Amino acid sequence: MKLVDGGKYTLNEIEASLLDNHKYPAHQVERIMPVLEEVDRLRAEKNAIILAHYYQEPPIQLIADVRGDSLKLAYAAREIKDKRLVLSSTVLFMAEMVKLLSEDKKVIIPALDAGCSIAEGINGATVKRIRENFPESAIVSYINVYADTKAEVDSVCTSANAQEIIKNIKGNPVILLPDYFFAKNIFYELTKNKNNDRTYLAYKGVDNGNIILEDVLNNRATSLSGKGINLPSLPKGTCIVHEQFTPEEIAYFRRSQKIDVVMAHPEVNPEVARVSDFIGGTEAMIRYAKTNPSKKYLVISECDLTAPLKEACPETEFNTPCTFCPYMKRNTLESFLRSIKEEVFEVNIDKKIAGKARMSLERMFELSGK
Ligand code: 13P
Ligand code: SF4
Repeated sequence: MKLVDGGKYTLNEIEASLLDNHKYPAHQVERIMPVLEEVDRLRAEKNAIILAHYYQEPPIQLIADVRGDSLKLAYAAREIKDKRLVLSSTVLFMAEMVKLLSEDKKVIIPALDAGCSIAEGINGATVKRIRENFPESAIVSYINVYADTKAEVDSVCTSANAQEIIKNIKGNPVILLPDYFFAKNIFYELTKNKNNDRTYLAYKGVDNGNIILEDVLNNRATSLSGKGINLPSLPKGTCIVHEQFTPEEIAYFRRSQKIDVVMAHPEVNPEVARVSDFIGGTEAMIRYAKTNPSKKYLVISECDLTAPLKEACPETEFNTPCTFCPYMKRNTLESFLRSIKEEVFEVNIDKKIAGKARMSLERMFELSGK
């Protein structure tokens, strides 16, 4: 069964897709469908819209009005007009982003503890300390950060537009934070085979109370004192899902499954990126597969990204080491239903922080011409 763009499927189409595309056993589908019917009824009754990320389990992705990568969800959030309630079946930093971009709506998330190891690796105080030391810099944060961090940076970027944002933003050095691997992969793509007149610093986390930045073109580390500030709760802001993959694992899959194309998310270790054939965010991977459906793929990302891939290209084989994001999976079908039924958990952001964080998001739209 071929489903093209996510959202607005009928309950019959969803049932068929769970059976055909996702190979759910019939007895499981019998339990899932009444939950989705109830969600569908509540959505209409409460004048709600449902947004879901590609790492949610297939039934949640299929019932959502919009499913997508961070950027697609950001655009969708900006466009919400006549709805009262927004259910963001995502992790918390994305639900915060939705709230920032549709501030007059009530935004809810199924699990408030749906965090992200990248987002917890930085905070606003750390960014302020970096800026004190680099007043001429352009500080860009990956969208995977909380509002207090967004409030202190010059612009946000996502996996889909990071290179474009960095190319267009003024300032030197360019500091990309918090994910060290993401920053190294983006800077590598941006600077390879070019004369570079700017310095590119990647945030490398906190070591012994010091904030570490790395000049990636010259392999030189700078250490800033973190004294007197609240340091982030995790010492390094990398993705606990994507950092697990190894070049050996990829070599094994290539050998044993006769893979044509290895697609990897830019949050992987640069060593993994170097042995992959295509690097891109979740939306870019789907686009790539759609235009090259005759290949056999290895997907180096979260396991449920294979859901939209299989729906868009039902004849194509997608292999994956199948690693789940424990944060994304805090949203279960049960908590998803409870969320819309009881209108929990509401996402609220301090007004002052929200105003500044929104400006960094608006800057991203402006720098990417959207
Ligand atoms: P995308 O914006 O590429 O979907 O990435 C979000 C994310 O959290 C990846 O781990
Ligand atoms: Fe965060 Fe990684 Fe999970 Fe994405 S997959 S939400 S980056 S921990």
